Amino acid sequence: MRAPPLLLCVALTALVEPGRTQQEPAEAERAEPDILSGIEGTPISSVDAWRAHRPALVKLLENEMFGPMPTERLQVAATEVERDPAALGGAATRTQWVVELSRGKELLSVELLVYVPNEREGLVPAFLGLNFKGNHTVWPDEEIRVPRTWMANDAKFGVKDNRASESARGQRTARWPIDLLVSRGYALATAYYGDLDPDFDDGFRNGLHAVLGDDPARDTLGTIGAWAFGLSHLLDALGKVDGLDQERVAVFGHSRLGKTALWAGATDPRFWFAISNNSGCGGAALSRRRHGETVKRIQEVFPHWFTTRFRRYADHEDDLPFDQHHLIALMAPRPVYVASASGDDWADPRGEFLAAVGATPAWELHGLRGLGGATFPEAPDTALGEGSVGYHLRSGKHDVTAWDWARFLDFADRHRER
Ligand code: GCU
Repeated sequence: MRAPPLLLCVALTALVEPGRTQQEPAEAERAEPDILSGIEGTPISSVDAWRAHRPALVKLLENEMFGPMPTERLQVAATEVERDPAALGGAATRTQWVVELSRGKELLSVELLVYVPNEREGLVPAFLGLNFKGNHTVWPDEEIRVPRTWMANDAKFGVKDNRASESARGQRTARWPIDLLVSRGYALATAYYGDLDPDFDDGFRNGLHAVLGDDPARDTLGTIGAWAFGLSHLLDALGKVDGLDQERVAVFGHSRLGKTALWAGATDPRFWFAISNNSGCGGAALSRRRHGETVKRIQEVFPHWFTTRFRRYADHEDDLPFDQHHLIALMAPRPVYVASASGDDWADPRGEFLAAVGATPAWELHGLRGLGGATFPEAPDTALGEGSVGYHLRSGKHDVTAWDWARFLDFADRHRER
């Protein structure tokens, strides 16, 4: 029976949320597809089945989103170029390293800055994260070397003619409370992200791509993949640092580098755990929600971050054979932490939370706790998750603060003892 025209009209209106046009789908409140459904749709109901499925899932994200990782690893040669055994008023040893990543004659030089607490029993766990503005911005120590590689011009940070300068020394300490990390017994290692791959679209040619020679990944590896591949090699270099436990290095990143931290953790199982801070679209936020930044918009503005195949999902998120909870779940059974900020609607805090919840069955399968049964925090400045999946909603804007770090440290403490 055909519905009378008036009734049909009412029914259609009910489907459209206020403020949205009819073409815009309602935001997804659940993570789809099911994390425990295999590539062919077969249910995954055991740890063995998860292990068997995992490589195919990594391949899927490589092929459709980030680009396949290079077929071979690069050579790594780390040379200590500076040391202060009494940094932070004697609390830490600061070392700086030139890490050469090479294949054949091609070579890429990355400057790695490391602080290791002097008061320690045995080896200490560490956080490894890339920074946006150069190692000299993370702490005001005079000896920290200023990058000589390409940097986007930024008057606020004294970057002119694509070169960093002295004037930004110590300007990013709020994001890198190294004294707090050291006082809680953790080392910190950081490198300027542009040393690994400059953040602009040049058709996958410069930075790490230039070292890949005739590797098929050279033409298809997005910059996020290149940063992640680089982080994995910096982890190799950390094996040379006195007092640092290479088996307990958590990979951390904010924003585009939060997307990178999740992918680095997914593709290098040696990382102890991963922290994604305000990573949003392409990171922890569910693409199918189309809330804040979308798959289309991110690729219009940052076409080089992903492999070109990912463009087919612009405005076609429902065709994605995965969503971002799959990226998070690739950490299982290792721990993972997702951090959001209430004023960061562009990164879709709720979508980040729902992805962390949607990934949780991957841990439950291993007999571990995730965020099963958790509800989105009613008020900000709330941290959730006593188990292997941590989440918090901080008040304020898109940023990294000491409050965020205190939560990451609490989470690390809980896993340190296990
Ligand atoms: C932009 C971009 C985000 C990204 C952020 C950042 O806002 O749209 O996807 O996370 O930059 O890296 O700071």
